[in-house]
Amino acid sequence: MITKNITILGIESSCDDTSAAVIKNAKILSNVIANQEIHQKYGGVVPELASRAHQQNIVPVVNQALKIANISKEQVDAIAFTRGPGLMGSLLVGTSFAKSLSLALNIPLIEVNHMQGHIMAHFIDEGQEMPDFPFICLTVSGGHTQIVLVKEHFNMDVIGETIDDAAGEAFDKSAKILGLKYPGGPLIDKYAKLGNPLAFKFTKPRVQELEFSFSGLKSNILQLIQREEKKNSAFIKENLDDLCASIQHTIIEILLEKVSNAVKLTGIKSIAIAGGVSANSGLRSALKDKERSHNWKVFIPKFDYCTDNAAMIAIVGYHKYLKSDFANSATTAKARLKL
Ligand code: KG4
Ligand code: ZN
Repeated sequence: MITKNITILGIESSCDDTSAAVIKNAKILSNVIANQEIHQKYGGVVPELASRAHQQNIVPVVNQALKIANISKEQVDAIAFTRGPGLMGSLLVGTSFAKSLSLALNIPLIEVNHMQGHIMAHFIDEGQEMPDFPFICLTVSGGHTQIVLVKEHFNMDVIGETIDDAAGEAFDKSAKILGLKYPGGPLIDKYAKLGNPLAFKFTKPRVQELEFSFSGLKSNILQLIQREEKKNSAFIKENLDDLCASIQHTIIEILLEKVSNAVKLTGIKSIAIAGGVSANSGLRSALKDKERSHNWKVFIPKFDYCTDNAAMIAIVGYHKYLKSDFANSATTAKARLKL
């Protein structure tokens, strides 16, 4: 049997990272990401600025991805792009670019759900062990927090979700209260390494067994800070490491409690994590501990594939290409696309 190599260009522009990647079958040849630093001074992503930056970045990012992969546009077999969910103005840039390029090159267009991309990042071939079906994926990003029962590549059910903030938002909003820059998740992770996770206690939400809630944590932190700053105006500065460690510890406990509930309910002990928050070192090591203590099989993505990237879009593109699951040229971006 002659098997043809399939080369896909993946494009991701759902939030504030412009990314392009080239994949050959399941192996990544390049994965270029342009972060938008402009949002830092506003303490969060400003949609209008994000879409403008995507417009500036998309051509150079795609050209660089092709250059690093050492291929020409003409060698690309299909273009995969993020259709949603995400910010409309941001999604439109990637969608329009992908549509025009597929038309110009006369090659198929493949639409990808961003959240599915995060999960499918586990199937990028880096020589690692890949999860067997079925498995449970804890998908934790800036916009979503979900427990997904993954039955097959394209058969996934969301069995648990947050009823308010996402885990990434919980990190970012807590960081903002502490006066840290956006995005605060990586900074909390950094300071937490030096602090005591049990220094401050925060209450846990009372919600259904597969539901998450993080809005109470934010109010809890705010109340603590306001109370303590009345006594000592340097409270945050003097306790930053302990505050970060305690906040991170609480978020991880909430996440893991729900994963444990999902394991009990489904009997599935194969657990994967995905999305920006899966880069968190505390979450990664807490899961590794569970692997040992509870006999779980844990799958943790490579750092490069945790936060937003086009490699994860390209791997979905590859699997959709194999099924000839191509998009119609009339496809449009969808801000609220379900898994
Ligand atoms: O998946 P992602 O890049 O974008 C979305 O699809 O939302 O996730 C971004 C989120 C942000 O909230 C960021 O603070 C968080 O992931 N994040 C982290 C870490 N790295 C990124 N949160 C905690 N610890 C980290 N190391
Ligand atoms: Zn994401």
